[in-house]
Amino acid sequence: MASSTESKYSFIKDRESKDSDSDSESMGLLREAMAQRNRRRALWPWIAHIVLFITSLGLFVTGSVRYNKSLKSEASIEPGWTQEYGPAVRAVGQRHGWQLLGAFDQPSPWRGEPNPELDEAWEKITHAGVFSVTAEEVERIGKMHNSTVLLPKESGGGYMASLEATHQLHCLDMLRKFSFRDYYADKAAPFSDAHKLRTHMDHCTEMLRQVIMCNADMHIITYNWVGHVDYPWPNFSINRQCRSWDNMLDWIMERTAHTKEKDGLIHRPPGAAIMDVNPVEYVHIDF
Ligand SMILES: *[C@@H]1O[C@H](CO)[C@@H](O)[C@H](O)[C@H]1NC(C)=O
Ligand SMILES: *[C@@H]1O[C@H](CO)[C@@H](O)[C@H](O)[C@H]1NC(C)=O
Repeated sequence: MASSTESKYSFIKDRESKDSDSDSESMGLLREAMAQRNRRRALWPWIAHIVLFITSLGLFVTGSVRYNKSLKSEASIEPGWTQEYGPAVRAVGQRHGWQLLGAFDQPSPWRGEPNPELDEAWEKITHAGVFSVTAEEVERIGKMHNSTVLLPKESGGGYMASLEATHQLHCLDMLRKFSFRDYYADKAAPFSDAHKLRTHMDHCTEMLRQVIMCNADMHIITYNWVGHVDYPWPNFSINRQCRSWDNMLDWIMERTAHTKEKDGLIHRPPGAAIMDVNPVEYVHIDF
């Protein structure tokens, strides 16, 4: 900054000295006074630039400090608790464009009166086992406890885990089955006991309520005038960015921990530490 200002000065001086050689003294003085004014004038753009530069630098610095502060305050709510499981996120890959099929009567392999094919279609997208995560991964999400279930050595060891996405879809499937409960009365485990069924269904409704409210989806629904309907008709066919459910299921399948137990369940080893909670209800786990 200083050197460029100096070179501008010296340029003016050079021109002056050249001019004053050929002019009278008074003309020289007049010129000197004008040159001084010009010099002052020449300074103004520089002063303005410096002031603007300092102002914008100041705004940038305060802006980024505030931005970083807001990031930190978000993270400091619960360190690590908002983090999804990194290895799964990376394996499933980028989200891709997908248009929801939102017509009221949209046909789908997962919709309609239950039958064996429909059950198989649901089984394909909900069947997911447990897998192993490390002690550090359990600690990072603040869930380490001496009662945290370890997988037996023959199942690969490590701590037992499953993905929340599959639990959510399982809950939706349970609510679907509940809407056809006459058909499922003798087919799905929780349907045999009315009280257990009530608790299970209420749990699923409550879980999905929280997940939906947590995600607070900000896509917009638009409305059209259609056919014989004289009120605005919603278009639920929203363009979205979605994860690949298939990639996720493949990832789970590859690392599913299989147990040697007859029923697939792991049974509590003798002397295992127990968490001091009383489960209200038996929850059916699919392995
Ligand atoms: C609803 O919106 C989608 C996505 O923009 C569009 O492809 C579709 O034609 C619309 N459907 C109706 C019934 O307006
Ligand atoms: C497990 O931790 C609890 C406290 O969370 C403690 O009361 C209990 O004694 C511990 N059990 C074992 C076997 O270490």
